[in-house]
Amino acid sequence: MTKRRSVIIGTGSYLPQTVLSNDDLAARLDTSDAWIVERTGICSRHVAAPGEFTSDLGAEAARRALAAAGCTPADIDLIVVATATPDQTFPAVATVIQHKLGMTHGAAFDVAAVCSGFLYALTVADALLASGGYGRALVIGAETMTRLLDWDDRTTAVLFGDGAGAVVLEAQMQPGSAADRGVLASRLHSDGRYNDLLHVDGGPSSTGTTGHLRMKGREVFRHAVVNLASVMGEVLEAAGLTAADVTWLVPHQANLRILEATARKLNLPADRVVITVDRHANTSAASVPLALDAAVRDGRIQPGDLVLLEAMGGGFTWGAAAVRW
Ligand code: COA
Repeated sequence: MTKRRSVIIGTGSYLPQTVLSNDDLAARLDTSDAWIVERTGICSRHVAAPGEFTSDLGAEAARRALAAAGCTPADIDLIVVATATPDQTFPAVATVIQHKLGMTHGAAFDVAAVCSGFLYALTVADALLASGGYGRALVIGAETMTRLLDWDDRTTAVLFGDGAGAVVLEAQMQPGSAADRGVLASRLHSDGRYNDLLHVDGGPSSTGTTGHLRMKGREVFRHAVVNLASVMGEVLEAAGLTAADVTWLVPHQANLRILEATARKLNLPADRVVITVDRHANTSAASVPLALDAAVRDGRIQPGDLVLLEAMGGGFTWGAAAVRW
């Protein structure tokens, strides 16, 4: 039995030039480098320049992923962008990126699942490729989260950063086993009861403003570890694999303590977890593809490796995917 699988044939990422350290934040907020490092593992974050938009970050990550895959925009027929920080309320950032890449063909749209956005976008693109209607997709997570921050709120202003990551997915016929290359399984969840724990207090339909990010961090933390452990187990079972098969965990980068607690639930040694939260902070939908690209480019992720991706975010939404490299 053969199966049409979505294989990641290239990754790319882009971080804006300006780096903001914890000390830079401590100069204008009642916080300290020691508090931020101890509670979150974050040391610094990148911040987009004035006039630099989510679509600019996403387009550059996409160009780098295309180059890594040996493809040009002409080879792509689908663009799915995960973002909570579009340039404009509409049109979709995906169509802006499509234009920046010089494409006038194919389909392009955004998905909104905040920090889980990349898992949602990957799952949607995988399903469209599996349907046979599309051959190659760009799946992009791109965010300018710093534009949503209330810079007077020390409980959230220290946690987020800007950036983008992208992958090129190609439909390939594979033997149809757990040893196949590509996305072996993915699972998504949501539970809208928890809106008040993590949300933006504005929007076009409610206030007519963009609003600011608000979070009850301690409660989010508690849900994150439980939900992530559960969805990782689910996805491994769906792929016919166990935690012992995982070569690399590439988690959403929100907080080092969440990453460590999640890895412990899988009995995965700390050196099998890809960590970028120290220098990227939480880049929402961009965090998983940014971390993935870092581990591909420095040679940690090798052909045949089983890579487990996971994320949880506002909604709540959460998801995981098992991908054979
Ligand atoms: N600097 C200094 N003190 C701070 C601070 C900061 N930046 N932010 C909060 N504090 C204070 C609080 O006001 C509180 O003071 P109090 O005890 O006098 O009231 C104290 O530190 C402890 O706050 P608390 O919120 O309980 O800390 P915590 O250990 O839970 O850490 C987070 C806070 C936000 C780092 C942590 O809860 C977290 O990471 N949560 C998950 C967030 C997340 O992953 N979100 C994204 C999911 S997509």
